[in-house]
Amino acid sequence: MFISVTSAKGGAAKTVTSIHLAACLQESFGSTVLIDADPMRSALDWARESEGRGLSFPVLDQTAALRQSNRFDHQVLDTEGRPSADEFADLARNSDLVIIPVFPDRQNLNALIPLVPQLKKLAASRYRLLLTNVPPEPQRDAAEARAEIEASGLPIFRTQIRSFKVYKQASQAGTTVNMIRSNNRWTSAWHDCENLAAEVVTIIKAQEKEMVHG
Ligand SMILES: Nc1ncnc2c1ncn2[C@@H]1O[C@H](COP(=O)(O)OP(=O)(O)OP(=O)(O)O)[C@@H](O)[C@H]1O
Ligand SMILES: [Mg+2]
Repeated sequence: MFISVTSAKGGAAKTVTSIHLAACLQESFGSTVLIDADPMRSALDWARESEGRGLSFPVLDQTAALRQSNRFDHQVLDTEGRPSADEFADLARNSDLVIIPVFPDRQNLNALIPLVPQLKKLAASRYRLLLTNVPPEPQRDAAEARAEIEASGLPIFRTQIRSFKVYKQASQAGTTVNMIRSNNRWTSAWHDCENLAAEVVTIIKAQEKEMVHG
């Protein structure tokens, strides 16, 4: 599977999502590589933080990926975000699924608006919005953002990634949240990531079936 992660707004958890999705795919669904296509090289920095020992999968720059990424069952592409129309079309055409993380706040929702015409041109099975950095209940931010996104007809993951400090700790330690056992919220955070990976796999399998039968 080839999965790319992009967003309409900077700082919207593309790298956090890419790293944790790659870890969960590697754990349960086959060999996985993360390709860092962001000139800021955040995912490469994340991996370097622990000299490669903190992640269960390799992170490759784009040149290394050209040579090596076909050795893996699954590829996750972390991008710079804010794609031009052409860049977005390329991502969509070449990915089994495009993930667009969105924080449930007004700035993130407004940033989506210019992307909507491009998204509407795509089959709904090719991409999903992902609510992430979701504050705890009884805060209604995520429920309200979901209602707004659904009303605009854009497809959204059932899975939501909740907001936990353990993500920052994981990035500082160059690892994934399941390795930060000193923070007892790691299980909740990791559970969200596992749910995301399972939902990604279900969507792509359904898409493949549709192609065979339809
Ligand atoms: N679920 C979460 N809970 C808490 N903090 C989060 C969560 N997801 C992301 N963050 C924080 O949000 C910030 C931005 O995340 P990240 O770097 O993954 O975004 P990005 O979209 O890759 O940014 P950029 O546009 O710079 O590439 C980071 O400080 C990260 O720790
Ligand atoms: Mg990033």
